[in-house]
Amino acid sequence: MSVRGDKIPDRSQSVTRGRHFLQIPGPTNVPDRVLRAIARPTIDHRGAEFAALAREVIGGLRQVFQTNGAVTIFPSSGTGAWEAALVNTLSPGDGVLMFETGHFATLWRDMAIRLGLVVTFVPGDWRHGVDLDALEAALRADQAGAIKAVAIVHNETSTGVASRVADVRSRMDAANHRALLMVDTISSLASMDYRHDEWRADVTVSCSQKGLMLPPGLGFNAISDEALARSRDARLPRSYWDWRPMLADNAAGFFPYTPSTNLLYGLREAIAMLLEEGLPAVFARHRRHAEATRRAVSAWGLEFVALNPDERSDSLTAIMIPDGHDADTLRRIVLERFDLALGTGLGKLKSKAFRIGHLGDFNDLMLAGTLSGVEMGLAAAGVPHVPGGVTAALDYLVSDACPSAVSLNS
Ligand SMILES: Cc1ncc(COP(=O)(O)O)c(C=O)c1O
Repeated sequence: MSVRGDKIPDRSQSVTRGRHFLQIPGPTNVPDRVLRAIARPTIDHRGAEFAALAREVIGGLRQVFQTNGAVTIFPSSGTGAWEAALVNTLSPGDGVLMFETGHFATLWRDMAIRLGLVVTFVPGDWRHGVDLDALEAALRADQAGAIKAVAIVHNETSTGVASRVADVRSRMDAANHRALLMVDTISSLASMDYRHDEWRADVTVSCSQKGLMLPPGLGFNAISDEALARSRDARLPRSYWDWRPMLADNAAGFFPYTPSTNLLYGLREAIAMLLEEGLPAVFARHRRHAEATRRAVSAWGLEFVALNPDERSDSLTAIMIPDGHDADTLRRIVLERFDLALGTGLGKLKSKAFRIGHLGDFNDLMLAGTLSGVEMGLAAAGVPHVPGGVTAALDYLVSDACPSAVSLNS
């Protein structure tokens, strides 16, 4: 007699037990505290209780962005916050200097072109950060001041390459150029050191679903006084993304349209968690997990997408798959066998690279589990590698090494 248990289980159909491992580089794991905060009843967004919530989260976000200036919150993904940065500050035909650091820089470039901006896109190989010499040269050559903004991605989520924001600002100063500095910190904010005021960014773009440990749905701009001043004369059409009604209403604790009330509950909790831990400790934790991951990758004998060791991201690691193998096959096997989601290769890295997210609400044993899933997956998929990456990572973690939160820019 044949019983169901006699059959070899089809793992793709089987019931999974235990927690799913969501190790894509965002959205990240949402902590239970944040989930519970979001699960409260929605309140009147025109009442006093809401106003107190709005003021608290805006004040908290200022600390996370390390700014004393204006911060806006849109009910949007990060792409909306990109658009808000551009349409509030620029006019049709304005020049924007951007750098081909990867998939997200390319998408932001495409948006700028669609909006009627004139983009100079400095070519790149998707394996390095912003080319500082090219930046300075382009600005020095712009005698007429046609370039109104430099827009960069701090941490390229598609490649795991981090650029040096403070150095970008220094080179802009060296060229004595008045362009605004716009920085996408979507996969670095609250994971890697980022200082909006000290590094004199004009518009910092971010969103909820990465280092802030929230579900997707909130987009942010941190705004310098200079960007606010320029926004008065900016002529690109803007309506939903307009900072003016947003900042005016925010001053009283309100929004010009219905806000994401429950995500704001979650944001309040997430900010409290980050500040309890302390931002320097948050950055050090990410740096430590990134270093352990890098040791695993090196021990496996695999190649980093990021060629310059000094530019390797602390929030994710992108890894090339050896020739003749498909990164998405590896990812599929890892998901089916171990219930672990890894990030896919994006754009021209499709099938060629996979990404490990090690950001957000994350600890040593979650990293150990993640790296174990990758190492077992490499073996199961027949990808050539040297076993022992997990051991190399664990050796590092157990040695209690905890590098200080030295940033790329300090
Ligand atoms: C660096 C970067 N910029 C922009 C985006 C786009 O954000 P969203 O998908 O939330 O619109 C992402 C998304 O992952 C990103 O990683």
